[in-house]
Amino acid sequence: SKQARIDRLKANIPTVPDFPKPGILFWDIMPIMQNPEVFSDSVALLEEHVKESGIKVDVVVGLEARGFLFGPLLALRLNCAFVPVRKAGKLPGETVKCSYTLEYGKDTVEVQKNSIKPNQNVLIVDDLIATGGTMASACQLMESMQANIVECLAVVELDDLKGRDKIKYPVHSLIHC
Ligand code: PRP
Repeated sequence: SKQARIDRLKANIPTVPDFPKPGILFWDIMPIMQNPEVFSDSVALLEEHVKESGIKVDVVVGLEARGFLFGPLLALRLNCAFVPVRKAGKLPGETVKCSYTLEYGKDTVEVQKNSIKPNQNVLIVDDLIATGGTMASACQLMESMQANIVECLAVVELDDLKGRDKIKYPVHSLIHC
């Protein structure tokens, strides 16, 4: 069943207390990738969600770094483009930037200016939504590119941090913690 698949996925996401700073409980998604069956199923679950919701997607946008582990695989399954949102200073050419406060720090993200055309349907993917700052900043970037944000999608969402309250678009996560 779908619930059994979600439960198996969750069983492969151990928590690490006090990482990367004291008081932070870190959800480590990397072990998902140690088991190809589990990893493949995580991408299948994302794909099924998008297909079942009937959303038309032109571009999957992935957030550095762990959004890059799921975004391109999902984009291939949806037969659409993949565009990376990176920490500032990594992308050549003209870019659009956005600064934000993170669960544990501050950062600026950017995207290549011509990578997304106005009115394209964009699905933003990341491994995890904590405070929602990262996803909200990606939304801001997409807004400044006049993209049409169809959904913000994550593998894990930390419900207590209420990250989705910062995001003014549909949010979906496979696992709620
Ligand atoms: C983590 C995670 C999300 C973000 C979630 O990334 O992968 O991108 O934090 O936190 P937020 O909802 O509070 O913004 P991190 O900044 O650790 O970067 P990394 O993926 O490059 O390690």
